[in-house]
This record gives sequence, structure tokens and C-alpha cells, in this order.
Amino acid sequence: MPTIIFSSSKGGAGKTTAAVVLASEFAEQGQAKGLRVALVDADPNQHSAAWAAKEGKPENIDALSVGKDDDILQVIEEAQRNAAFVIVDLEGAASSTVIGAIALADLVVVPCQPSQNDAREAAKTIKQVQYAAKVSRRTIPFVVVFSRISAAIFTKTNKHLAAEFESAGVDVLETALIDREAFKSIFSFGGTVNTLERKNTREAAGPEKAAENVRAFAEDIKRRLLKSQQQETERVAHA
Ligand SMILES: Nc1ncnc2c1ncn2[C@@H]1O[C@H](COP(=O)(O)OP(=O)(O)O)[C@@H](O)[C@H]1O
Ligand SMILES: [Mg+2]
Repeated sequence: MPTIIFSSSKGGAGKTTAAVVLASEFAEQGQAKGLRVALVDADPNQHSAAWAAKEGKPENIDALSVGKDDDILQVIEEAQRNAAFVIVDLEGAASSTVIGAIALADLVVVPCQPSQNDAREAAKTIKQVQYAAKVSRRTIPFVVVFSRISAAIFTKTNKHLAAEFESAGVDVLETALIDREAFKSIFSFGGTVNTLERKNTREAAGPEKAAENVRAFAEDIKRRLLKSQQQETERVAHA
């Protein structure tokens, strides 16, 4: 029941895309074992809920929407009881709802496009995570993931931003999400990067490269979850 929350105060950072591809990957990997994944859409724009309503969503994803009168904490807690993974797509705002949801996370993922302004927004989001951690008196692990990175080159700006995050003590996920047509196509045609037909993407490589990217991304996230679980165990052991 690990809960992974995608958060960034910036709209367009890549939260919904990352949340949907991660939920899909976990669901597809766990389908044979009967594992269930909850995908909680807590953004009033409801883009991940719209994806989930299309044909092609893995059957073992339970799509949950947080309406304006719903209590987001209740929705997440309910999902935690029923699913092996809970993935939450938050709205791009700094609200008390966002802080409350973050307080329930096992891992907060902050997508960030490789520009200075986006990095500044990511830093603001990290402050929110630290604030939620203080309020809830627990450690809330977080990691930045670069999103919409060029497939061809790791630019000077990317390197500079990665170094800035590192010197601020902020972890950046090893795998970045590459800018690929397939990541847009799933929202138009439904389904996952693994089921997307080649004809639905303009890219010469087709969806295979995107699928590879998502697999590496999902593995990195699992490793982070394990690492933070181990750190938590050590903290308890040394308390
Ligand atoms: N890795 C990616 N490759 C291509 N397009 C992407 C990628 N990530 C996001 N996008 C596009 O960028 C826009 C914003 O992404 P989205 O995931 O909706 O961000 P957010 O949920 O943070 O507002 C969307 O049009 C989406 O299709
Ligand atoms: Mg979104």
C-alpha cells in the first residue's frame, strides 16, 4: 500500500502524465498476481480521470476522483486499504488540501521540466513537502523527476539544474521522463504505452522507447520506496 503522490505547484509540470504512466506500469506488472492500483485524481481538471474513462485502462486500476465536496484524506485512506499501490495526481496549486494529501505520502514525486523557472517552482513544492512533514511530525521522502527531457541531448541547462538540486541536497531521480509523442497519445487514444499502437504515434521509434522509459522510471520509484522503508526501519531501530 505505498502511496506515491505527484505534486508541483506548477501546472504543466508533467504530474498527470507521470502519474498515469506509473499507475499503468505497476498495474500491468502486477496483473497476473491480482494486484490492484488506485489512481486518485485530486485535480479539478480531472485529466487522469478522463484517461481512466477511456477504453484500454488496465482492468486492475481503480480510478478514484476527488470531487469538490469530497475529503481527499478519506479518499486516499480508503484507497490505501484496498490497493497495493496508491498513486495520487494532485492539482497544480499550493492549498491546504495539497499539504494534507502530502502528509499521507510514502514518496512525493515532483516533476520538473528542465528550465530555471520550473526548477524554482519545484523548490517551492519541496518547501511544501517539508512543511507537511513538520506538521505531521514524520519524514516524508521526496524526489524530483525531470520531465519532457529531450531524447537527443542532456543540455547544459539540464546539467546546471541537476547540479543546483544536488547542492541543495535534493535527490533527482536517475531516470528522467523523455519528451515523447507516446506520452501524449495515451491521453488521446486511451490505454498504456505498452498497448498503444504504432500508428497512433508520429515517432519513428513508435511507443517502444516510451515503454522502456516508463519501465526504468517505475524501477527507480520502487527502489526509492524500498530505500525510504529501510531508512525508516533503521530510525526505529536506533530510537
Ligand atoms: N514526457 C512527456 N512527453 C511529451 N509530452 C508530455 C510529457 N509530459 C507531459 N507532457 C505534456 O505536457 C503537458 C502538461 O503535462 P501534464 O502531465 O498534464 O502536467 P500537469 O499534470 O503537471 O499539469 C500535456 O500536454 C502533456 O501531454
Ligand atoms: Mg495534471
